[in-house]
Amino acid sequence: NYNRAQTQKPDISPFEFRNILAIRMIWLPLSIRKGQMLKYLKIMEKTLVIFKPSAVERGLVGRILARFENKGLIIEGIKMMQLTEEILREHYAHLVDRPFFPSLLRSMTATPVIVLCLKGNDAINVVRMMTGATNGRKAQPGTIRGDFSVSGQENVVHASSSPEDAEVEIARFFRPEEIIEWTPAGIGFIYEPDER
Ligand code: PPS
Repeated sequence: NYNRAQTQKPDISPFEFRNILAIRMIWLPLSIRKGQMLKYLKIMEKTLVIFKPSAVERGLVGRILARFENKGLIIEGIKMMQLTEEILREHYAHLVDRPFFPSLLRSMTATPVIVLCLKGNDAINVVRMMTGATNGRKAQPGTIRGDFSVSGQENVVHASSSPEDAEVEIARFFRPEEIIEWTPAGIGFIYEPDER
């Protein structure tokens, strides 16, 4: 009977219906390709690097930049700027009371610096590993400081130490429009799809 079939209620209670709906809402996103899911987790990070006066003055900029490019890090911001006491007091706020702070101020304002925003999977850790320990005398050979510095102050680069710091530091040194979001055409030869 046509009419009866039309008006027949489904065999499940509203309670069961709600459960099925809830399961589907969990299952559906999980069933999307893993690569697409990872995209939503935002595994590509941005970090801030400063080529300090000790790098600029000694003509090391090209060689240090080449290391980051060779590694596969993506440059999303790069500019030269003269740092001021004001910005350095903010950037090194945790060090203003240290006896070496006046010397650090002098050192960081001695020449213009180059600031960089680098992008990559786990970029903050990757860049910190590449820069090595703060003191160039203690940094492992093969790291940037290990190869180009013998000093705690004249240690050629600064690199953000955590995702929280990176966000604040990028905003400190770049205006939003100076950061250019882009992806190299050959990204598939740098990362596999699930890694980016
Ligand atoms: S600390 O000592 O652990 O709180 O230092 P850190 O946060 O790593 O930052 C140290 C930065 O200060 C610069 N600097 C010195 N560090 C240690 N000793 C002396 N004498 C000194 N003079 C300057 C050092 O280069 C670190 O700079 P960044 O830019 O963070 O690498």
